[in-house]
Amino acid sequence: MPRLLYGGDYNPEQWPAEVHAEDAELMRRARVTTATVGVFAWSRLEPAPGRYAFGWLDEVLDRLAAHGVGAVLATPTASPPPWLGVAHPEVLPVGPDGVRLSHGSRDTYCASAPAYRDAARRIAAALGEHYRGHPALTMWHVHNEYGTTCHCDLTAEAFRSWLRHRYGGLDELNDAWTTAFWGQHYTHWAQTRPPRRTQYLPNPAQVLDFRRFTSDELLAAYTEQRDVLRAATPGVPVTTNFVLGGWVPVDHARWAREVDLVAIDHYPSDPGAGAQEQAAFAADLARGWARHSPGGPGWLLMETAPNLIYAADRMHTKEPGRMARHSLAAVARGSRGALFFQWRAPRGGAELFHSALVPHAGPDSRVFREAVALGETLDRLGETAGGTVRAAIAIGYDEPSAWALQGAGLPSNRLDHAEEAELVHRALWRRGLGTDVIGALEGLAAYRMLVLPMHYLMTDAQAAGVRSWVEAGGTLVVTFLSGVADECARVRTGGYPGALRELLGVRVEEFHPLGPDDRVKLSPGPGTDAGAAMAGELWSETVHLAGAEALLSYRGGVLDGLPAVTRHAVGAGVAYYVSTRPADEGYGDLLAAVAASAGVTPDPAGAVPGVEAVRQHQDGRTWLFLLNHTGEGHEVPAAGTDLLTGATVTGVLRLPPGGAAVIRES
Ligand code: GAL
Ligand code: ZN
Repeated sequence: MPRLLYGGDYNPEQWPAEVHAEDAELMRRARVTTATVGVFAWSRLEPAPGRYAFGWLDEVLDRLAAHGVGAVLATPTASPPPWLGVAHPEVLPVGPDGVRLSHGSRDTYCASAPAYRDAARRIAAALGEHYRGHPALTMWHVHNEYGTTCHCDLTAEAFRSWLRHRYGGLDELNDAWTTAFWGQHYTHWAQTRPPRRTQYLPNPAQVLDFRRFTSDELLAAYTEQRDVLRAATPGVPVTTNFVLGGWVPVDHARWAREVDLVAIDHYPSDPGAGAQEQAAFAADLARGWARHSPGGPGWLLMETAPNLIYAADRMHTKEPGRMARHSLAAVARGSRGALFFQWRAPRGGAELFHSALVPHAGPDSRVFREAVALGETLDRLGETAGGTVRAAIAIGYDEPSAWALQGAGLPSNRLDHAEEAELVHRALWRRGLGTDVIGALEGLAAYRMLVLPMHYLMTDAQAAGVRSWVEAGGTLVVTFLSGVADECARVRTGGYPGALRELLGVRVEEFHPLGPDDRVKLSPGPGTDAGAAMAGELWSETVHLAGAEALLSYRGGVLDGLPAVTRHAVGAGVAYYVSTRPADEGYGDLLAAVAASAGVTPDPAGAVPGVEAVRQHQDGRTWLFLLNHTGEGHEVPAAGTDLLTGATVTGVLRLPPGGAAVIRES
């Protein structure tokens, strides 16, 4: 019987032998299947150049194997040992201000420094060689959360060859970067540089390309380790844990093709009810990436915090039951298990108060008792491992667009692609409408409806692909600032939203960005039944119809009477344009109405707000995951066997406050 993975980061190198023995016993009690080891252990594994000290890790892996726990074995390259930077100062990264960082933390490396890359490959090769065939070895975890940027001279050289490869000639580069603006024309490749600290606003196309380059450079660092490991241990899957966040210079949609299983780390930032919405978004995004991964459609929650949510100012302790519910939510959405950062809370170091399955208080604690209960729960759900989620709606999430919208000179400084995508996701989530969040506009035929929130950059090929999908019957919803720029962040002229203008049947002439407290009123256009009056926030613009009809119009202010939300029938499909961000419940009302018109209704039907309901499919069988995130009991339609209790459910299930059920449907 397949099992879901359960466990997390395990750092026995921080503890003496008697604690290791206790770890083994506690892992048995909690039914842990998986321990991620060695993530930051480079200085312990290679205390001097080329001198390996694997003995302690041998003991760890042997003990794990003896207890039936699989090892997700990391290459430790996210945290180079102090000796490396002392011997080769060029492996230490340089900031945009030219200051070289020092060792003393982690992630302090330059992916373009040959001395770093060589040392990283060597330790990966040594681990691969040494642990080939070890019974505990179940997966490779290359590095940790790739995402470090460097601006040094070695990086400049690498960036230059990347640019030559991308553009061929300097004329093409000058054109792509619009260097005619502010007289930045390059006459020799040697003049090109990473964006570094400069007098005033940097060139947005240069900044965007540097992000793309960094993603590719880090990917090369990943794939060379992966290939070394694949050669050493054929058949053992290799992955790396993706970290989410606007700062991360990694195009995960491209990386997903290179990992054997998409693995993400997720730490919600909202201590309240928003946490499960954030977690659902991250899960649906991971599943979207996994569509392009050899290990898909499944993915893996590689890290989350057992018992805390970091908000802006402090740690929030999770209330009883939340750890399990969040884990089940990830599993419901396709995660092959629930792994945590971390197994045992450390005594020192920079994250000394980070939560763990075994907290500082020890096993006689609420958290460890919940960890034991979660192990039992996941054990009962083995039959669902391998299930898939079917979503009729896709949301486009484009990391290069997110990067471009962080650039200089934009019409508003409150533009955040990820936030817009999350808002759309949340609006649909609250209506029980399941989505895949897709990082590449590919495989659209799988969906009935596609929402493109603020998809700022768009290539001609992407626009053409979306168009043929609509013509073939797709229902498209595009929001403001989509398709406005090409892949070089150059505005497409003749009216916004550039690449999508004809498809949407509108022509946008001017932007009117709104202030934090501004709202615009919207009212149903003549002859439509698009619902009651709504309001828009963040954005508004002058929209002219060019084939589309107005569903909602601006009311009052400078845009009074002009279209705000439009609809354009194209071939067998339809394309909607939303020129403002509908406030409050307006987004959900609008999207749910569009979904209904596309024949997409909540599945499973009849779910209660605040009760997350996800159906999984596998070989003609289905399971219904029901998670009550509210503080009240709810009755939900369901029929089958609750795998968590063994009870038979015949039509209605009573879910207690905070409760969960997984129904094998009859
Ligand atoms: C992750 C990281 C872990 C740990 C954790 C703390 O991003 O991979 O090593 O630092 O955050 O929340
Ligand atoms: Zn560097």
